[in-house]
Amino acid sequence: MSDTLFSNLETKLVHAGRKPRYTQGSVNTVVQRASSLVFPTVADKKHATKNRYKGELFYGRRGTLTHFALQDAMCELEGGAGCYLYPCGAAAVTNAILAFVAQSDHVLMTGAAYEPTQDFCNVILKNMGVATTYYDPMIGEGIRELIQPNTKVLFLESPSSLTMEVPDIPTLVRVAREVNPEIVIMIDNTWGGGVLFPALSHGIDISIQAGTKYLVGHSDVMIGTAVSNERCWDQLRERSYLMGQMVDADSAYMTARGLRTLGIRLKEHGERSLQIAEWLAQRPEVKAVFHPALPSCPGHEFFKRDFSGASGLFSFELHQKLSDEQLANFLDHFELFTMAYSWGGFESLILANQPAEIARIRPGIERKLTGTLIRIHVGLEAVEDLIADLEKGFERLK
Ligand SMILES: Cc1ncc(COP(=O)(O)O)c(C=O)c1O
Repeated sequence: MSDTLFSNLETKLVHAGRKPRYTQGSVNTVVQRASSLVFPTVADKKHATKNRYKGELFYGRRGTLTHFALQDAMCELEGGAGCYLYPCGAAAVTNAILAFVAQSDHVLMTGAAYEPTQDFCNVILKNMGVATTYYDPMIGEGIRELIQPNTKVLFLESPSSLTMEVPDIPTLVRVAREVNPEIVIMIDNTWGGGVLFPALSHGIDISIQAGTKYLVGHSDVMIGTAVSNERCWDQLRERSYLMGQMVDADSAYMTARGLRTLGIRLKEHGERSLQIAEWLAQRPEVKAVFHPALPSCPGHEFFKRDFSGASGLFSFELHQKLSDEQLANFLDHFELFTMAYSWGGFESLILANQPAEIARIRPGIERKLTGTLIRIHVGLEAVEDLIADLEKGFERLK
């Protein structure tokens, strides 16, 4: 498909990856489940082996037509040279980092990263002799002082997990490249479904997503994606392959299906979450709302400059630190907001963290919370129903 004719995201999402080779006469891509892929002749086997990472059917672990269709679609959407598929978002994060570090190397990790990403650095990288320094995502130019001669990876996440700060990514990328043009810059780009923030066009090498969230969009598939530029693609692909990373064809199919509605889902999640965030900002119980589209969110100016829209996930801090009893009373009785660790599906979700827990999982960050932090994912229910549910929750705090 020509970029010049169909540059609108929604059009791209509907058509990405749907080549005749992958659809074989149907609208959607075929589900090709295979471990063995058979070769009629020696010449065919030779050809497949030579072109095994260039879209030729070779062996199940290198993917089938279903995987290739999703990989092509992701490259088209995120502007990459290649896309590796993983069994979940955490596998995408960890394998992308592992592909570029060795003993005695150093990783710069945002201190507001998704907690298991930090755990991976603190346990697995540490055991390998790879050191991690956590930086404040709002550090900007200051990142220069933290880059060491052995820093191999600068890892970003935007917005931050739970506290939602939006870093000044163009500055971080520029400074990192000035100090060391070879540094590999990666981002956990899950919040915007890989499309609200065009990471690769900002000079980032690898854009990672927990496809589990918005790509799939229905809370029923685990998958991770890493879209890479040309420079890092061969190394990312071959190291991930060595680590045995693979996802089943059905999950790849469901993810490609999710892409078709990603644009309109994100638009609805974004509009609804902003309406609810604005309502929350007026509530007397709420101290601050951390929604990237509101000025009260650290980095709001960078969000306005760099993102094309918001999604459904944000958080807010209460004035009060709730007691365990208050917290249970607040959270246990919602009718629409249910509690779950994941997010990105069509349904609304809620979670809470106390200030001490937040401080523990934000290494290298000075700013502290004093009230309970509530994170919500705004699903596709009617806004007035969601507000009524939240209103009853606040009543329970009285
Ligand atoms: C920002 C972020 N990155 C990565 C992950 C990990 O994804 P998965 O659960 O698919 O391993 C999550 C999951 O909640 C997440 O929120």
